[in-house]
Order: sequence, then structure tokens, then C-alpha cells
Amino acid sequence: MIEFAVNIETLRKRYSNGVEALAGVSLQVPYGSIFGLIGPNGAGKSTMVKSLLSILRPTECRGTMLGEPIGNKAILAKVGYLPEHASFPDYLTGRQVIEYAAGLAHQSRNACRQRCETLLEQVGMKEAAHRSIRTYSKGMKQRIGLAQALINDPVVVFLDEPTDGVDPEGRIDFKNMIISMREEGRTVFVNSHLLAEVEQVADRVAILSKGRIIQYGLVEEMTRRDARYEIKFQGQLPVSLMTWCHEQQMTIEQDRISYRADSPAQMQPLIDRLRAALVVIREIKEERFSLEELFLQAVAQSRTEASVIKGGKR
Ligand SMILES: Nc1ncnc2c1ncn2[C@@H]1O[C@H](COP(=O)(O)OP(=O)(O)OP(=O)(O)O)[C@@H](O)[C@H]1O
Ligand SMILES: [Mg+2]
Repeated sequence: MIEFAVNIETLRKRYSNGVEALAGVSLQVPYGSIFGLIGPNGAGKSTMVKSLLSILRPTECRGTMLGEPIGNKAILAKVGYLPEHASFPDYLTGRQVIEYAAGLAHQSRNACRQRCETLLEQVGMKEAAHRSIRTYSKGMKQRIGLAQALINDPVVVFLDEPTDGVDPEGRIDFKNMIISMREEGRTVFVNSHLLAEVEQVADRVAILSKGRIIQYGLVEEMTRRDARYEIKFQGQLPVSLMTWCHEQQMTIEQDRISYRADSPAQMQPLIDRLRAALVVIREIKEERFSLEELFLQAVAQSRTEASVIKGGKR
């Protein structure tokens, strides 16, 4: 049975100005996995994280985090958090920011020193640790933010847009750091709109749009759904085989046959028929949807549905 570090049965947040930022979402994050919450601006991603961490008071919330009801303050000692647009007092040095976070987490002085140096090393900020934050670039601040999120050796880490303002090389570092967190056994919850990045690291994702989850699942399964297979061949297809392909809803274009299928097993009868007809196969390709394509499709579909419902109400 899968155990969940975060198990949201329902979470709803309506701000005092009437905006319903979360309209009753439900999702599960297994222990030791990387979870990506993706969605356009204003979808409700930060609201969700802040609600889970009791920074905001949700309107309705049922579920557990690390086995305790969401909202239980004691579990926050096992949680790390890198807020969106994290900012720290700019007169502090990078090292002091991490030490300050250690103090808030009631870490002993000795344990803190050791861990602080390890983290500075991990996030690549050892050299600049003695400089004040005001001399840092955006990416350097994000690195210090990541280190302070890990100071209490958390079981689950929430990262709200961790690569915001980080250059492409830095993003690769961030990706590797997130993967290392999973290797260390942590559960990582990442909010992002950098879809390609999420696709590379996350085990599961949820697509959030206007406070609702419109797609949720394993990245591997989601991107495989509706995959296309394409076979390139050499020579002429026998007419009987062309007819069979059309009957199977396959598309033939010049020297290639393509087909929508959930698994490569569905392509095997075609391969057998091509081989039996002595047609030379030059290439077999699986084309999956990228998370970005799925995201754009899902968001566009949810907008269409919303406008149909609105239209119907009129
Ligand atoms: N303090 C607040 N008071 C009122 N409405 C708010 C508040 N904070 C956020 N909202 C609204 O709630 C909705 C969700 O905002 P949220 O910041 O959670 O989105 P997000 O998905 O994190 O967006 P982004 O990608 O821009 O960070 C938006 O419509 C936003 O305007
Ligand atoms: Mg946000």
C-alpha cells in the first residue's frame, strides 16, 4: 500500500475578497517522491502550499500531512519551505540567513554549524557565504533560500517556484539538487510553471487551473497516454496491407505509418505483417506528448468547458 506524506481529501480556500482560489481540491503525494504542482498564474498553487503550511487559514480542509491532520503545528518541524519570491534581510550574509533559519528550527549551535556548512556546499554558495544578501544575484538568493529550507533536515520540502530568476545552468543544478533530496528519502512538493523542468524530475503531477485540478497522475502514464507510434519503411506496401492499415485507423504517409496507441504491444501485429510482406522497416519511433502539450490541452479544454457552462447558465 502506498503511504502518503501529503494526503489532501479536500482543500478549499476563499479569500476575504471573495476570490475562490481553491475550489475543493484533492491529491496525494507518496513518501519519498517528487510531486509537481503546475498551473497558470493565479491557478492557486501558492495558496495550496500556504494552506498546507498554516500560513493561510483554509476555508475547508480535510486530510493529513506526515500522518497528522493538516494544520497540526507540531509537524511543521519536519517540513521545509522555500516561499515564492523569497526575500531575506539584505544586511545579513548568506550564512547568517541559514543560521537564523536554524535558530527558528531550534537547532543546537553545533549541529547547526555543521549542517550549515554542508548545505552551503550543496547549494554551491560556500565561497559567497560571507557576503551580504544585498550583493547577491537572484539565483544566489534562491540557492540560499533552498539551503534554509533544508536546515531542519525535513521529511517533506515545499518549493514554490524554486527556479524563479535562476539561469539555465543554475536550473540544472536545482534539478539535480531536487533529485538528491529524493535520494535522501525526502518528499518534494514543487510548484512551477516551468513544465519541461517538472517533467524531468517529478514522479507525479497535478495540473491546477482556476482552483481546480484538471489532470493528476504519474508523469510516465500521463505522457504515454495517447502516444503515437510511427514506423518508417522502405519500398512499396502491398495493397492488402494498406487496406488492413486503414481498417486499423492507421495513417499512411509516403514511407511512414503512424498510429495512436497506449502501448508498443499494439504495434506488434503491424510489424509482423510488414515482415511477412518482406517490407523493410527502417525506424520505429514512439512519440509521447510532453507535459507542456498536455498542460496546454488541459487548460484550453477546461476554459472551453467553463465557457460552455457559463453560456448555458445565461
Ligand atoms: N491575499 C490574497 N487575497 C485575495 N486574493 C488572493 C490573495 N492571494 C492570492 N489571491 C488570489 O487567489 C488566486 C490564486 O493565487 P495564487 O497566488 O495561489 O496563484 P499561483 O498559482 O501561485 O499563481 P502564480 O503562478 O502567479 O504564482 C488568484 O486569483 C489570486 O489573485
Ligand atoms: Mg504562486
